[in-house]
Amino acid sequence: MTELKNDRFLRALRRQPTDTTPVWIMRQAGRYLPEYRATREKAGSFMALAQNPELACEVTLQPLDRFELDAAILFSDILTIPDAMGLGLTFVAGEGPKFERPLRSAAEIANLTVPDMDGELRYVMDAVRLIRRELDGRVPLIGFSGSPWTLACYMVEGQGSRDFARVKALAWNDPDAMHQLLDTLAQSVAAYLAAQAEAGAQALMVFDTWGGLLSPGMFHECSLRYLARIVEQLKNDAHAADLPVVLFSKGASGHLEALAGTGCAGLGLDWTISLDEARRRVGEHVALQGNLDPSALYATPEIIRREVEAAITAFGPHPGHVFNLGHGVTPGVDPEHVKVLVDTVHEAGRRIRA
Ligand code: CP3
Repeated sequence: MTELKNDRFLRALRRQPTDTTPVWIMRQAGRYLPEYRATREKAGSFMALAQNPELACEVTLQPLDRFELDAAILFSDILTIPDAMGLGLTFVAGEGPKFERPLRSAAEIANLTVPDMDGELRYVMDAVRLIRRELDGRVPLIGFSGSPWTLACYMVEGQGSRDFARVKALAWNDPDAMHQLLDTLAQSVAAYLAAQAEAGAQALMVFDTWGGLLSPGMFHECSLRYLARIVEQLKNDAHAADLPVVLFSKGASGHLEALAGTGCAGLGLDWTISLDEARRRVGEHVALQGNLDPSALYATPEIIRREVEAAITAFGPHPGHVFNLGHGVTPGVDPEHVKVLVDTVHEAGRRIRA
């Protein structure tokens, strides 16, 4: 394999010193880029794009050609696993993801099986292999998955929801079925991430987007416990053992210590906690990734520079910070503002280490 030319991101996740703060952006390949919209148009639909390794590779690399990003993230989606389990994923324009066959009974949950990583999900591994080849060592490639809890949210509701009442009702009323579902999903997620590692991913991220919906007790039971199991299983996998794993539980900054206790390398942070507080609480144990409010990209370049500098100053000159937004970049953002963010991270990161 080609040697990595820029390893800032991987070094920061290991809390080793770097010349400046590494940066990548959640949803960096996405609708705010006109070239993404053009490729998506060519593909016909989001799933056609994600399932075509050449096109998935093309859009993965698009943001790297515009900005000095320190990592690439596989272009795919967290909902590939439930799709491969047979739920039938579609993306309705303006409405987000929808499953044709959401889970409606304990019997349907009992019938779910771990998808075949060389079968239904082979297109993901083909994309990883192709992206690694095309990256040619420019920056590391991040593989990812949804968390069992977050996947269960979509599988039971059938789509996004304001309160996810249906899946929470299942957790209250049929805990056995809920845990059977989370268990099958945890096995699937661990196998999926291990397969991405084998195909060439160099870091792994788990998106627990809806972890913050849960009460502390239910967070431990339904989210954290399965995240911990996945981290543990990856440590015992020949291909994934040495890869840093980043857990991002959105809205769950009350649980940082517990999340750090899973043995993950890094934690993603949303924008509701300051970087200095997060570092004081768990910075001795894990690297931190985040956490500018994505809406700051709607502000002027001057304000973006000020906010980025404030975040870099808040973390301080310590190793172990990967700059990111606190959630994905939104479709209405001006790509020039993303360039201001990325360049300011590198300038401010150098300055604070000088
Ligand atoms: O970050 C990247 O650039 C890599 C690709 C990526 C996508 N989705 C592409 C995508 C990643 C890492 C994801 C993760 C994902 N998908 C999450 C977890 C992170 C988060 O945002 O909380 C979730 C919850 C999903 C599910 C999902 N996919 C939703 C709710 C939507 C619709 C809302 C939206 O943002 O459009 C998607 C669609 C999706 N996934 C798009 C992209 C670029 C936009 C689809 C389009 O092109 O029409």
